[in-house]
Amino acid sequence: MTKHYMLKILVCAVLFSLVFVSCNGHKEEYHSVMERIEAESEDYHGVTLSSEKYLEELKSIEITEGDFTFLIPERKSQIKSYACTECHTKSLNELQDSNIGKKAHWDISIVHANENIMNCATCHNINDMDNLKSLTNKRIDFNNSYNLCSQCHTKQFNDWKGGAHGKNIGGWAPPRAALTCVNCHNPHEPHFESRWPARFNTQKVKERE
Ligand code: HEC
Ligand code: HEC
Ligand code: HEC
Ligand code: HEC
Repeated sequence: MTKHYMLKILVCAVLFSLVFVSCNGHKEEYHSVMERIEAESEDYHGVTLSSEKYLEELKSIEITEGDFTFLIPERKSQIKSYACTECHTKSLNELQDSNIGKKAHWDISIVHANENIMNCATCHNINDMDNLKSLTNKRIDFNNSYNLCSQCHTKQFNDWKGGAHGKNIGGWAPPRAALTCVNCHNPHEPHFESRWPARFNTQKVKERE
């Protein structure tokens, strides 16, 4: 009985060390998946794979977050009412007084977290409107608004950095470029409704018969 047991343990140990050694061997060659893709896509059957032709039209910025460096679309030139300081040179009170009539941002209401958690000043700095702000009052550039989201949505942020949430532009060929949070989510109303696949509605047909 015990002999059997010892044998099993021995076999396991050998298998384990085999796996361990082979993994380690690979690790020495490449430090990350991206590194491996980059290295192996150079001169692939005489063709160099690159996402560059998909990025020609894109005004992008390079970011480095932890171990990941990639491109995301530049944002500020895309925001309709940027620069905010075209109007926000006076205090809010003064602006509100001088603005009798239609509310300036009538089309923006928060459908995100409830009002005990979040209001305009959670993300916008009333005294520095051209920048966003963190929960601890650190300045966040509008181009890097993913740093705003990442404070509360850590899981999606980590997935996004690695390429598991969101979308790469131009596939996985280097240089890597990905859409940023606000390209898909409206920060004021970020939720997407779940959608079911279209299907033939047999219930409706029955009701009509
Ligand atoms: C065309 C002028 C104009 C521009 C551009 C503008 N704002 Fe405003 N904003 C106003 C006025 C006027 C108010 C005062 C309150 C009102 O009328 O709703 C205001 C109020 C606000 C408030 C307070 C709303 C509230 O209910 O307390 C926030 C936050 C704000 N603006 C953010 C921004 C940001 C961020 C930008 C730039 C991305 C921006 N605004 C650009 C005119 C402007
Ligand atoms: C969860 C954070 C968050 C909250 C809360 C928030 N905003 Fe914003 N807001 C953003 C971000 C991020 C952007 C930039 C979006 C982009 O890049 O398109 C933005 C953009 C804007 C803009 C520019 C929109 C445009 O297209 O010109 C205005 C104006 C604005 N916010 C006003 C407000 C007002 C007023 C409130 C409160 C009613 C508010 N925001 C609440 C994060 C927030
Ligand atoms: C201060 C914390 C905070 C910040 C900053 C913040 N969120 Fe949220 N967000 C929340 C909370 C709280 C909810 C509601 C969660 C729920 O209902 O389960 C939420 C809900 C969401 C949802 C809907 C979740 C669902 O289940 O459908 C999305 C998408 C989202 N946020 C994206 C963003 C994006 C993008 C940004 C940056 C522009 C951002 N959030 C910034 C706290 C935050
Ligand atoms: C290419 C578009 C795209 C980008 C970029 C993107 N998201 Fe999403 N996100 C989605 C879609 C689509 C869903 C809805 C998934 C579903 O309902 O199953 C979603 C869902 C979410 C949710 C709801 C919870 C969940 O996981 O289903 C949160 C929170 C969220 N995203 C936050 C973020 C943050 C933070 C970023 C940036 C770091 C980001 N997203 C970038 C498309 C995107």
